[in-house]
Amino acid sequence: MNKDVIIACDFKSAEDTFAFLDLFRDEPRKPFLKIGMELFYAEGPSIVREIKRRGHRIFLDLKLHDIPNTVKKAMAVLSRLDVDMCNVHAAGTVAMMRAAVEGLTREDGTRPLLIAVTQLTSTSEQTMQQELLIGATINDTIVRYARNAREAGLDGVVCSPLEAGMVKEACGAEFLTVTPGVRFADGDVGDQVRVTTPARAREIGSDYIVVGRPITAADDPVAAYRRCVAEFCG
Ligand code: C5P
Repeated sequence: MNKDVIIACDFKSAEDTFAFLDLFRDEPRKPFLKIGMELFYAEGPSIVREIKRRGHRIFLDLKLHDIPNTVKKAMAVLSRLDVDMCNVHAAGTVAMMRAAVEGLTREDGTRPLLIAVTQLTSTSEQTMQQELLIGATINDTIVRYARNAREAGLDGVVCSPLEAGMVKEACGAEFLTVTPGVRFADGDVGDQVRVTTPARAREIGSDYIVVGRPITAADDPVAAYRRCVAEFCG
């Protein structure tokens, strides 16, 4: 498994996104990009096609969570966009995740990687227990959701890098851990709660780190991206 850094393109428009991507024009390593709700809802599927045309791999982070039939049909539409990775919320149940795999699988049997969000990296154990009334510990919840995702045939989960080791232990080394909540040791945490550095994420066993503001809001985004790659990919 090749470790990689995925840049979260949390921009409001195609114009802002391409201004950012133009900074990487001479970069030998074409960054793997994440397109999330803000950009997808603003620009629609055309932004995915255009970024794909530029040769980037794409993680389409729309975090589907609905009844199984709706998720299956939505996934069939996303599958035609030819992205490399997409996701659902594990809280949608094993039945919903199975439906997502079915919808995503093309007639020739191929499909993008499919991963499930366990608990958002902005959620603390206290919020989970007191507001969402989930009585288990956050770690037990994450491991259970990861096992559910594996049982449903998914390729891995989104979790905090701090949880990557225990997910691998529960679900096997091949089960992917895609981990946002990454910050440089000298950087701002922002609204994230369960965070660590790229170097520590590598040690714990993340396969992909998803990094947004530490790169997109840096004075020199290319330098920040290179720093992430150097720390995480070695
Ligand atoms: O700017 P920052 O590095 O915090 O961006 C993290 C990205 O990862 C955001 O696009 C956020 O939506 C996403 N994400 C997350 N936690 C999850 C799942 C996705 O932060 N559990």
